[in-house]
Amino acid sequence: MRHLLSAADLDRTTAIQILDTAHELARLTERGVKKLPTLRGRTVVNLFFEDSTRTRISFEAAAKRLSADVINFSAKGSSVSKGESLKDTALTLEAMGADAVVIRHGSSGAPHVLAHSGWISSAVVNAGDGTHEHPTQALLDAFTLRQHLREGKGDLEGVEIAIVGDVLHSRVARSNVLLLHTLGAKVTLVAPPTLLPVGVETWPCDFSYDIDEALTNKDAVMMLRVQRERMNAAFFPSPQEYSRRYGLDRRRMNLLKPDGIVMHPGPMNRGLEISSEAADSEKSVIVEQVTNGVSVRMAVLYMALGGNEISGDAQ
Ligand code: NCD
Repeated sequence: MRHLLSAADLDRTTAIQILDTAHELARLTERGVKKLPTLRGRTVVNLFFEDSTRTRISFEAAAKRLSADVINFSAKGSSVSKGESLKDTALTLEAMGADAVVIRHGSSGAPHVLAHSGWISSAVVNAGDGTHEHPTQALLDAFTLRQHLREGKGDLEGVEIAIVGDVLHSRVARSNVLLLHTLGAKVTLVAPPTLLPVGVETWPCDFSYDIDEALTNKDAVMMLRVQRERMNAAFFPSPQEYSRRYGLDRRRMNLLKPDGIVMHPGPMNRGLEISSEAADSEKSVIVEQVTNGVSVRMAVLYMALGGNEISGDAQ
């Protein structure tokens, strides 16, 4: 694997290989080996043009646990705010000898441009581009589902998942639909008609406007954040109305299978798409998703950079 730009880049074998590598890395971390020498001497640049807390910290922790040198670049306070182009930023990173660039950008397709422009020779990992894709989020979600529903092994054949909320603006939903389909899971998207993208009927999933029906007997529900920063119009009458029609509360959560799980990529709008009661319930794996994100991103960096053999020798 050279770049990771889209969940569609991953066939079932490669996706399972990443999940298995992440599983192995998580096991080592649990054993107390927090740092592996695998990427010693390599440089990973986190190039973040959009705000982020958990994804940036997660990639930073992942790279550091593999002993890479990490450079954090955020557009605010950099020459980007003086109007420097993506091309000039890329040329600077190349001149500094970056081996991998992890990019988050407000424009859909920016990671693709970076990977295929010829400006840089490093591996490119998409950490979220506009409303397009967020493949490492989909991988960490698949990892979390696999831990809970498949004892951390194999694919997700036959697993049934509802993804609920602002699908229109969600790169998390797009990447998850693609990856979960590749892994054999059955996805139902649930949203008001205004928050489903045009052409959703061509996606490899079902869709519904009825949350209660869609959640019944599912293995998992993934709630999406209402992305108000990407909304330029009124997509629903009021927050109260949205919450009543599409919010996850305890009653709805209990429609899932008895061992069904509740997921959310964060950051959550508590009281809007999810109640605190559901977010903090025994069914919620939201905090585990964050933990799993580090192992999965370690696996992605490891595979993109072709690191040395994974071994449990601490440095
Ligand atoms: C997501 C993102 O940035 O796309 N968050 C994340 O990566 N943890 C989802 C979101 O912002 O709602």
